[in-house]
Parts: sequence; structure tokens; C-alpha cells
Amino acid sequence: MQYDFETVVDRREAGAEKWELIRRKDGSFPDGIVPLSVADMEFALAPEIRDGLKKVLDTEVMGYTCMNDAYKEAVCAWMEKRHGWKIQKEWICPSNGVVPALGAAVRAFGGKDCGVIIMPPIYPPFFGASKENGSHMVECPLINRLGRYEIDFDAFEKAAAAPENKIFLLCSPHNPVGRVWTTEELRRLGEICLKHDLLVVSDEIHFDLIMPGYTHTVFTKAVPEMENRTVICTAPSKTFNIAGMQTSNIIIANPEMREAFRKELHGSPSFLGFRACEAAYRGAEPWLDECLEVIQKNSGLVDSFLKEHLPWAVVSPLEGTYLKWVDFTRSGLSKEELEERMVSHGLYLDEGYIFGKEGEGFERINIACPEHVLQKALERMVEALEDIVPAP
Ligand SMILES: Cc1ncc(COP(=O)(O)O)c(C=O)c1O
Repeated sequence: MQYDFETVVDRREAGAEKWELIRRKDGSFPDGIVPLSVADMEFALAPEIRDGLKKVLDTEVMGYTCMNDAYKEAVCAWMEKRHGWKIQKEWICPSNGVVPALGAAVRAFGGKDCGVIIMPPIYPPFFGASKENGSHMVECPLINRLGRYEIDFDAFEKAAAAPENKIFLLCSPHNPVGRVWTTEELRRLGEICLKHDLLVVSDEIHFDLIMPGYTHTVFTKAVPEMENRTVICTAPSKTFNIAGMQTSNIIIANPEMREAFRKELHGSPSFLGFRACEAAYRGAEPWLDECLEVIQKNSGLVDSFLKEHLPWAVVSPLEGTYLKWVDFTRSGLSKEELEERMVSHGLYLDEGYIFGKEGEGFERINIACPEHVLQKALERMVEALEDIVPAP
């Protein structure tokens, strides 16, 4: 390995969100405990990004900043190289995050009577995106087939056919269940959206984090007929662990939709956010490739460790993201009891219930951390649950 994915970076006093959540629960940080919750990585910054930013600090002035041509070129080149997706520079709407962009899209295209379809279990801000922005939420839960999740196309078609439901918020790849939707699945969704005139907001923030054997397809590549009715949310933040830079790129091909969206979008990346994204897209691809190898290895570790020690737990196959979704419902524990067992064993994970009621009794484990950290966390997980007699 050319890069360091083994050193634990001490983030305890850095104001890091996932560490602050421990402080809020426990008042301080228990010794040797690393949280595996909020979706950022416990890895050092890619040297290409660090060096790029150092150069910027040495030479540039930090005034009010918009996208420059070099930035737009870097974004377009990344989309083409990693995703075979040709976009035009003017399609890029930079935003200070994907979550603010989901809200802006609902405000721009929704309205008081508009239903916004989502597929739980899902990343929690998807629930708020409709309600907090003047529309209402329509849930179309995924189907859990022994840990691998599928889309309920019948329920989706029914929801799409209701004339008040005008927006579909797609999560692709899907957080927290780790699915990378196939081209066929995306096409089927797209055909239903076309038939019933839906707009799609496709959150593809995890699109670079794909495991070997799987291919991410950008929604409008799978369904080109939807290009004029779709907002695609991308970002370098998950890919390169630079979420604190608050930079994302929302891609909208339709000029009227772009205009309406921009009117509702109130935040932009900062000067350093633009520069960090450019440095990442231009130079840090080799870092990402190694990072994906580490995630794949860590995913295998969770699979084999839990299979050996807690064989009744169901681990969803990781196709994309760095978030393992584990079903502990056979433990018979309530969601509160499960959480209590985890926390009292120094395991700060994301509790499944935050992703919707379908997630009760599940845990989401962030595996973007050094292998030895994950190994210790898994050992504590076994200690927390080894006395359980699983339900048949
Ligand atoms: C699916 C999904 N969308 C959006 C975000 C957050 O996006 P941002 O930090 O750009 O607002 C996350 C973070 O975990 C996520 O998993």
C-alpha cells in the first residue's frame, strides 16, 4: 500500500461530529474507543489534497469565490472518467451540501400538496427533506430478502400513479442497506417515473464507493429519457473524506429546472471547498483506489467475524458505500436494549431505528477505519451479544 490506512488520527478534540456524539452520551471519551457511526472516514487526508491545499494557501487570496473554469473541468473529467458520464460545465450547480440541495429541490419542484416518495430504511434527512420544505412524505419501503434489499416496484408504481406525488427522492447507492442499484432496476424506476410524470432527485453521494463486481450507473445514464426531469446530487465529500469542506456538485441538465433550483439554494461551497474538490478530483484517484481495497477487506472481516461468532445476525452484502447494515432482530432485544448493550460495550454505531421503523433492531457499522480498530469493535460486539439465545 502506498498510503496509510492504519494510523488512527486523534480526532477527540477536533470537533468531529461522530466523536462529539460520544461526548454527549458519555461526557468524555472512553479509552481506546473509536466511534463507527456518522459517515466520514477515520483515515488521514489524502496527501494529494493536503499538498494541493497547501499550495493554494501559499499563493492565493481567499475572497468571495465561485466556480472557475479549472474547477468545472475537473468535475466534468471526474464524471467522465469514473462514471462514463458526459456532463456539460453549465449543468453544475455547486452547493454547500447534498442535504441542503435535497431541501432546495423539494422547495423548487414540490409544494403544499406535493407528495415526495422515499424508500426506507433510508438516510434520516430524506424524511425531513419533504416535511421541512413544504411538501409531504410518501413512504415506499424496500423489501428485505434475507438481508439483500429490493425495490417494491408494485408499491412504487402505486405511489407514482397518485397525481399529487410529483417527486421521487432516490438514494443510489442506497444508504444504509448498501445496495448498488442495477441498470435494470434503475430503468424500471425511470419508466414508472416517465409514465407518471415524476421528477427525480437522485442522491448519488456514495457513487464512487463501489465494491468490486458491482457497477454504479448514474440514474440518467440508465434512463436517458429522464435527463430533463432529473437532479443528480454528487460530491467529493464521502469519496475523499472531505465532508467538512461542505462542497457538492448538483448536476441538472434542464436549464429551467436549474434556474428554479438555484433560486431555492441558499448556500455555496467556500473558497477552500472548491479548491479541495479540484485537488481531489485531479490528484487523489490512486488514494481512492487503495481506500476501496481497505473497505472491501474490512467488509469481509465483518462478514467472517459475525458468521463465526454471531451466526444468527444477518449482514447485508456490501455492494457500495462503507456502511455495513446488520440485522440483530433475532436477538429479541428492543431497540433500546440493543442500543444500551452496544454503548455499554463501547460501541458507538448508528442505531438502525434512525433510518425508519424498518431499521429497528439493526445497527449500521461504519467500516471506513483502520482494520485493527474494526477488529476490536467486532470483539466488543460479540461480548455484548454472546449470551443471546436467538429466536428461531
Ligand atoms: C445518502 C446521503 N446523502 C447525503 C449525505 C450528506 O450530504 P452532505 O454532507 O453533502 O449534506 C449523506 C451522509 O451520510 C448520505 O449518506
